[in-house]
Amino acid sequence: MNDSLTLRPASRLQGTLRVPGDKSISHRALMLGALAEGETIIQGLLPGEDPISTARCLSALGAEITQINSTEVRVRGTGLGQLKEASDILDAGNSGTTLRLMMGILASQPGLFSTLTGDHSLRSRPMGRVSNPLSQMGAQIWGRQGGKYAPLAILGQSLKPFHYHSPIASAQVKSAVLLAGLLTPGQTLVTEPARSRDHSERMLRAFGAKVYTDKSLTVAVEGPAQLVGQTVIVPGDISSAAFWLVAASIVPGSELLLENVGINPTRTGILEVLQAMGADIQQLNPREQAGEPVADLRVRSAQLRGTTLGGSLIPRLVDEIPVLAVAALAAEGKTIIRDAGELRVKESDRLAVMAQELRKLGAQIQEHPDGLEIHGPQQLTGASVSPHADHRVAMSLAVASLLARGETTLENPECARVSYPDFWTTLNQLFL
Ligand code: S3P
Repeated sequence: MNDSLTLRPASRLQGTLRVPGDKSISHRALMLGALAEGETIIQGLLPGEDPISTARCLSALGAEITQINSTEVRVRGTGLGQLKEASDILDAGNSGTTLRLMMGILASQPGLFSTLTGDHSLRSRPMGRVSNPLSQMGAQIWGRQGGKYAPLAILGQSLKPFHYHSPIASAQVKSAVLLAGLLTPGQTLVTEPARSRDHSERMLRAFGAKVYTDKSLTVAVEGPAQLVGQTVIVPGDISSAAFWLVAASIVPGSELLLENVGINPTRTGILEVLQAMGADIQQLNPREQAGEPVADLRVRSAQLRGTTLGGSLIPRLVDEIPVLAVAALAAEGKTIIRDAGELRVKESDRLAVMAQELRKLGAQIQEHPDGLEIHGPQQLTGASVSPHADHRVAMSLAVASLLARGETTLENPECARVSYPDFWTTLNQLFL
C-alpha cells in the first residue's frame, strides 16, 4: 500500500458483501479461549491488527493459538489461573481493548508478573479507569503517572470481590473488572451509568462462567469460575458495516446488501439513528449465531435529515460517531451530537480530528466539548486529509470523499488494517 491514496467521488455503490468479524467479539473469543480448559475454535475471526495484538499477548502467556485459515483459529487454553509468565513486554499495539482487558486477567492471577505497553496512541490513552477499580480489589499495578498510562507493570494478586460503580459507560472497564472477578472468590459486580456492549457477559456465560444480568445496569460474575473451550462464530462487525450503511445512504443510486452483520442491541444505535434520519435500511433474515443476534442489512440511498443524539444512546454507537458526522453533512437540517466526550480518548481525539479534517474538505462544523454540530447538506471539495493514524477516521474520511467534488488524498490509509484489512479493496469493488 502506498503512503497515500487518491479517492474520487462515487457515481454509485452497488453489490453484496461481508464485513470482517466483529473486533470486540474477536478479542474476547481469543482471551476466553486462552483462559479456558481445552480447545476453542473461532470462526469468522477478524484478521485485523488489533486481534493479532491480543493473540500475540496470549501466545506469549502460554496459550497455543494455531491458524486454520485467514479467519479461523484453534486456541488451546491454559486453564484459569495457569497463564505462564511472559519473557518479554506484552505489546497491545493500537488496541485499547487488548490492554484494558488483559489488565483484568493479569492482575488477578496470583504471582504472575507482566509488563504491558502499546503504540504512541495507546500510551497516551487513560488506563486509570481500569487500574483504579482493580487496585480497589487489591491489584498491584504500576505505570506512568501512578498507573494512569502505559507502559504498565502488574504483579498478579489474589483479589477481593468488589462492587464497582463506574462513572463511565465503558465495556472495556466493565470487562476488565469482570475478567478479574473470574479468579476472585465471591461476586464481583459492576454498575454502569448506561449500558455498554455486553459481549463479555454473553461469551463468559457460553464458556461456563456464572454471570448475572438483569434489566438494571449491574452485572455480576461469580468466582472462582471454570471456563471450558467452545466453538465461537464471530458475526460481521456492525461498526465496519457502518461505513457502507452511510456511504450507500448518501451516494444517490446506491444499493448494498451487507451479509451476516451482528445486531446485538447494545451495538445497534447506528441503525436507529440512521433510520431516524430517514435512511432506507432493512434487516433481513434475523437469526442467532453462537449467542449473538445476526442479520443481513439492505441499504438503499435516501435523502437524510438532521437529528439530535446523546445520553444512553452514545455507548451503543460510540465507534460510529465519526461516520455519522459524515452522514450529517449530507443530511438536510441540523445534527447535534452530545454526551460524546469519550471520543476524545479513543485512538485519536475523534471530535477534534473529524472537525479538523472535514473542514479541510470545506465542511462547516462546530466542535463542542462533548460533541459536534453540523448543518447540512454541505458541498465538499477534495483536499489532502490525514486520519491521524486512527482507523475509523481513515474510513470515515473515505466516505466523506465520496461526496466531495474532485479528488481527495488520504495519508496513511493502511491504518485501516486495525479493524478492516480489506476496506480499500472492497471500496474499489463496490464502485459502479
Ligand atoms: C470496546 C468498547 C468500546 C469501543 C472499543 C471496543 C470493547 O470502548 O469504543 O472500540 O471491545 O469493549 P469503551 O468501552 O471504552 O467505550
